[in-house]
Amino acid sequence: MIIPVKTTLGGYDIVLERGALAKAGELLELNRKVMIVSDDGVPGQYIDTVAGACGEVHKVIIGKGETHKTLDSFQMIADKMLEAGFSRKDCIVAVGGGVVGDLTGFVASAYKRGIDFYNIPTTSLSQVDSSIGGKTGVNYNNVKNIIGAFYQPAKVLIDPDVLKTLSARQISNGLSEAVKMSLTSDPELFAIFEQNDSFDDDTIDKIIEKALLIKKSVVEKDEKEQGLRKILNFGHTIGHGIETVCVSAGGEQEFYHGECVALGMTVMCSDEVRARLIPVLEKLGLPTSCKIDEEKVFEAVKQDKKANADGISAVFVPEVGKYKLVNITLDEARNIIKKF
Ligand SMILES: NC(=O)c1ccc[n+]([C@@H]2O[C@H](COP(=O)([O-])OP(=O)(O)OC[C@H]3O[C@@H](n4cnc5c(N)ncnc54)[C@H](O)[C@@H]3O)[C@@H](O)[C@H]2O)c1
Repeated sequence: MIIPVKTTLGGYDIVLERGALAKAGELLELNRKVMIVSDDGVPGQYIDTVAGACGEVHKVIIGKGETHKTLDSFQMIADKMLEAGFSRKDCIVAVGGGVVGDLTGFVASAYKRGIDFYNIPTTSLSQVDSSIGGKTGVNYNNVKNIIGAFYQPAKVLIDPDVLKTLSARQISNGLSEAVKMSLTSDPELFAIFEQNDSFDDDTIDKIIEKALLIKKSVVEKDEKEQGLRKILNFGHTIGHGIETVCVSAGGEQEFYHGECVALGMTVMCSDEVRARLIPVLEKLGLPTSCKIDEEKVFEAVKQDKKANADGISAVFVPEVGKYKLVNITLDEARNIIKKF
């Protein structure tokens, strides 16, 4: 299936198809100098498949995890591209999850002021959400995604077959973003989560497709987050605060991104929605409560890009499929964080 996404500069296609990875050579223009960026947790077979389809292949494999979404990784890739003489006619391909995709897209936006970027997302999170919409960037000074750019991919190749090597926890981590989109925009998608106790291939394909269609419709109307696109941040305001504290604690991350979003959603919806959301999160094995250092999370939330002197702009879901943009004061934010 091809899902076209319109952008102000034209647009790009998302190819959603089981087996698409093996067709990378046909579907992408790889007969040139190609920099493949991945991380050391992505199974090598996926990287090799893409590499086998390239004219002249170069690779950078960063360490896995959020702590590697940094300017250091950016520099490492840029250094290699300079060394290998990459020109604007060449391209860069992300093979990995949201960390690799966000980082690679940012390098693509900046190297020689922009070269072709293909995204091949290999996690459920990146397949339902992060690989489309053009948000790229890195974390800096303990602030999530604070340095980055809007830069659109030339094409996105989604092969749900690659999810077979992903752990159940990582699958649920990504589905959390699809639950998020269903709550603000699509009661039918939420019903899929409510009605299924396990998710076979057909159901996963349906979830990916429905989530992509929601995200496509939102980013087409609001490419640079002037308004509507904020709904994609449902659960993220408090969630990012929790994630920042987890990442800055170093070592193994206690919570993944989607798990932080799950926590963030539980405190930004009506009681009626929460009563339906909690069983869905529990079924997916996502956290619904946690022990956190309230003060540290509050400090992190204050740093949020959506925060200003009057408070923080956030999304509230009063009923499944509906949303309200609200402004919460810093005092209110502190009280919300205390709910954990
Ligand atoms: N740009 C956006 O619009 C957007 C939206 C949502 C989230 N994000 C970002 O996405 C990131 C999180 O992405 P993520 O959840 O994909 O995490 P991730 O990129 O860290 O990937 C999770 C883990 O899965 C491993 N992995 C990847 N593919 C695999 C596969 N097929 N089989 C086995 N293991 C595999 C990776 O090595 C990694 O260890 C965060 O940095 C978040 O800020 C961006």
